[in-house]
Amino acid sequence: MDILRVENLNVEVSGRTVLKNVSFSIPEGEVHVLFGPNGSGKSTLIKTILGFPGYKVLSGSITFKGKEITDMPTDERVKLGIGVAFQNPPAVMGVKLGDLLKEMMRDGEEAERRISTLLKELNFPRNFLTRDVNLGFSGGEIKKSEILQVLAQDVDLMILDEPDSGVDVENLQVIGEVLSRRLKGRSALLITHLGYILRYVDADVAHVLIDGRIACSGSALRILGQILKEGYSWCEKCPRVKGLRCEGFL
Ligand SMILES: Nc1ncnc2c1ncn2[C@@H]1O[C@H](COP(=O)(O)OP(=O)(O)OP(=O)(O)O)[C@@H](O)[C@H]1O
Ligand SMILES: [Mg+2]
Repeated sequence: MDILRVENLNVEVSGRTVLKNVSFSIPEGEVHVLFGPNGSGKSTLIKTILGFPGYKVLSGSITFKGKEITDMPTDERVKLGIGVAFQNPPAVMGVKLGDLLKEMMRDGEEAERRISTLLKELNFPRNFLTRDVNLGFSGGEIKKSEILQVLAQDVDLMILDEPDSGVDVENLQVIGEVLSRRLKGRSALLITHLGYILRYVDADVAHVLIDGRIACSGSALRILGQILKEGYSWCEKCPRVKGLRCEGFL
């Protein structure tokens, strides 16, 4: 069964159509990657999947765990089991990270123990729990805070928007090893530009978004190799035939 199915999605943001006829699906238990140039619509797609206000679905549908969620409010989608680690999350003044985590976790009594385990795994100091969410956090600390939140929620579909950007080599290894363990056999969608996280996480399939359209879908590592070698112009020329997956070679 597909955990997520996006069909013919057209999305308008601030009066402009940003996503054009986007279709892809993630079978349960697979990790997929979304590649694409800056401004191609990757974060917009994620915010639309989560149902952010201002991301207007003109046509098409989003189905999660067999249930159509296209018009569902964001909090209900989250309750159904979608968790997102955002690229540029806002600081939340007056809300402590520790309180937010407890609020997010489904199993109240276990929360303390699981938070402690995750902090240790992520090598994230405990004192961050008493700080306002993301307020004054460094770029790398924000990444860890977002990953901590999405792992604490124990969701059915994890969506991670650039978990590896702005992270130093040692923290990349820490985050990579945690995600490698915790994404095994789980369903996830990862956005990465340079693919650093794919040194740790086994990804099944990648989709390439160019100017709001899916230009190509296929083997994640092969597509990454081609993008790093030849840039996105290679994907634009991809001779993908409808129904066939691009294997990364012309
Ligand atoms: N709320 C908004 N208001 C106006 N324009 C927006 C809004 N959200 C997205 N856009 C525009 O839509 C386009 C796609 O943006 P998006 O953030 O989805 O790109 P991206 O693929 O995630 O890029 P990056 O790799 O730089 O993160 C951009 O041109 C952006 O300026
Ligand atoms: Mg983005």
